[in-house]
Amino acid sequence: MAAPPVRIPMGASFFMAAMALITVMMMSSPCHAQLSSTFYDQTCPNALSTIRTSIRSAVSRERRMAASLIRLHFHDCFVQGCDASILLNGGGEKTVTQNNNSVRGYDVIDSAKSAVESICPGVVSCADIVAVAAREASAAVGGPSWTVKLGRRDSTTGNPSQAGADLPVFTDSLDTLISRFDKKGLNARDMVALSGAHTIGQARCLTFRGRIYGNGSDIDAGFASTRQRGCPSSSGDSNLAALDLVTPNSFDNNYFKNLMRKKGLLASDQVLYSGGSTDSIVSEYSRTPATFSSDFAAAMVKMGDIEPLTGSQGQVRKICSAVN
Ligand code: HEM
Ligand SMILES: *[C@@H]1O[C@H](CO)[C@@H](O)[C@H](O)[C@H]1NC(C)=O
Ligand SMILES: *[C@@H]1O[C@H](CO)[C@@H](O)[C@H](O)[C@H]1NC(C)=O
Repeated sequence: MAAPPVRIPMGASFFMAAMALITVMMMSSPCHAQLSSTFYDQTCPNALSTIRTSIRSAVSRERRMAASLIRLHFHDCFVQGCDASILLNGGGEKTVTQNNNSVRGYDVIDSAKSAVESICPGVVSCADIVAVAAREASAAVGGPSWTVKLGRRDSTTGNPSQAGADLPVFTDSLDTLISRFDKKGLNARDMVALSGAHTIGQARCLTFRGRIYGNGSDIDAGFASTRQRGCPSSSGDSNLAALDLVTPNSFDNNYFKNLMRKKGLLASDQVLYSGGSTDSIVSEYSRTPATFSSDFAAAMVKMGDIEPLTGSQGQVRKICSAVN
């Protein structure tokens, strides 16, 4: 008598198919995809509105703060991921060259944190507050808004050597910039969109002096002489100039139009439109503000996803400047 054909019962084959599907899904999704926009819905339902109120009032006191908070999130995420490591007083990141006397907004994050602590003690991480603050800052100055994923935890250490090595510098070539962002999972298009944050905020003379006195062919002569007036060739290191000369306080696409007129302030701005591979992206954003806006929002979400601590990793700090 022939053996009956092997029959897998309906339940088992369904189970196996489901397991295979789950395995495929787990393999294709990045290992850090545990953040969720609803993370505090049960544990601190008023967290987001509390942060918003705090950030809105800081930006209405000083409009530049919007720029400073967006940059703070960037400089946090590029070092050990978005883990609030930059905020630690003893962490060593605050004083690396790219941050020292330059990154601002620590006090604004501290007050947002204390407002949140007063309603839900020990629940909302500093890393999430920084991420939400960046979104609120953008929205407050006419920039795009986006849904912030939440659930990041705070580091217990800073990493000054990684900060010094990984944060971009204004003298970087286009290839160097592309590889720095690539190292963090961001492509050249993300990089150009994110650099559009230079539509607001200011830079110190010492970061653009070389460019405005360099007699290069990549700078508009009138723009160079205008900027030279506020930035002497051998003094005034901390004199400020707007990164976007046209609309320094509004989040718009004039930054890209400036680049096409050789009026980028930093050398690292102008290299994005200097005959290289990113020229077409700059030109696209200069023509289509809506594309810049949606690409910027998407890239900020992607940047906010860089290597978060989740679950039981790290801690939720009580004070953002110190470990518990
Ligand atoms: C592409 C590589 C980048 C380089 C080399 C660079 C470099 C700089 C430099 C040198 C300054 C002036 C700092 C000072 O003088 O104290 C600055 C300011 C600023 N950066 Fe960038 N940046 C880059 C990308 C980004 C990105 C990706 C963002 C955010 C998404 C960003 C946001 C800002 C903002 C908003 C300011 C003004 C801050 C303020 O006024 O307080 N930058 N950047
Ligand atoms: C940071 O800036 C302060 C004030 O200008 C300076 O005294 C200090 O040496 C700088 N730190 C580093 C590590 O460069
Ligand atoms: C730029 O040109 C001016 C005027 O010709 C000259 O004095 C200056 O030394 C030049 N600077 C550089 C960096 O070549």
